[in-house]
Amino acid sequence: MRDSNPAYHIPVLLSEAMDGLNIRASGVFVDCTFGGGGHSTEILAHLDAAGRLYGFDQDSDAKRNSLQDERFVFIPHNFRHLQRFLRLHGVTKVDGILADLGVSSHQFDEPARGFSTRAEANLDMRMDKRQSVTAETILNTYEEQKLQKMFSLYGEVTNAKTLAKAIVTLRNKTPFRTVNGFKQAIADLVKGNPNRYLAQVFQALRIEVNDETGALRELLEQAPAVLKPGGRFVIISFHSLEDRMVKQFFKNGHFEEKDEQDPYGSSPSITPFRTLTKKPITPSEKELSQNPRARSAKLRIAEKI
Ligand SMILES: C[S@@+](CC[C@H](N)C(=O)[O-])C[C@H]1O[C@@H](n2cnc3c(N)ncnc32)[C@H](O)[C@@H]1O
Repeated sequence: MRDSNPAYHIPVLLSEAMDGLNIRASGVFVDCTFGGGGHSTEILAHLDAAGRLYGFDQDSDAKRNSLQDERFVFIPHNFRHLQRFLRLHGVTKVDGILADLGVSSHQFDEPARGFSTRAEANLDMRMDKRQSVTAETILNTYEEQKLQKMFSLYGEVTNAKTLAKAIVTLRNKTPFRTVNGFKQAIADLVKGNPNRYLAQVFQALRIEVNDETGALRELLEQAPAVLKPGGRFVIISFHSLEDRMVKQFFKNGHFEEKDEQDPYGSSPSITPFRTLTKKPITPSEKELSQNPRARSAKLRIAEKI
């Protein structure tokens, strides 16, 4: 068996994730975010010959890390199609699902991918290179209000409104094409620490390009049907918005707001999950000292009832 690839990505909260999955040796598991295979390698180490692991990743670069192990199947697709692709492999129920959200270090560190504020590249930021929408598309075509919402919601950019307005004016003169070109064009709008500001702007763009909240929502909605009773769902998120989605879905089993039209109030929802983490699990000081990129990680665990 090939080992995981730490040069590609160092797995975050590894032992905490394994504990959360409560791995039964002959069980069937899904790693929704295979990446460098760090979590997958550890799951396989807990499985016997009858166990199975399905690893999703929408980035073709991750396929290079695929594990040569008869018990492992790599699925090169978005985890928003979880149920469909599992069915295609003859799987209807699983014992555990893991999702370690966001981008890998490889994606971030590979200049040509356009995720980093520090390297010159085309404004790309696609995890799945088969999709057509890039950061360039968004910056040059989104309406002002949509840009504002994106920067505010996904990046918590303080001057989202001013930035969105400026982008629409600037792109009419010269469309945005590259990271450096974009950075130079918005240089006068930077508030506070420039590195932090740009990181927030780029984070917002990345989440939008990859529809990360939409994919998470679809994953959460499919999980109850895919997990066996007693099956575990472990999610590591790096953004407060995602963590809130996970927490609420585990608690309520849906994303619907209370029905304001119903004078009697809707009946209390019955969640398909028992939440096992009242508070999210975060990395230890030791892990943070070895891997600072783990710093905003939050892990939540739920059990299918
Ligand atoms: C944080 S990394 C996971 C690292 C992995 N746990 C490891 O130990 O190496 C996230 C990975 O998930 C992939 N990914 C993110 N969102 C995805 C989605 N909606 N569908 C499929 N893969 C996704 C990314 O391409 C990336 O490789």
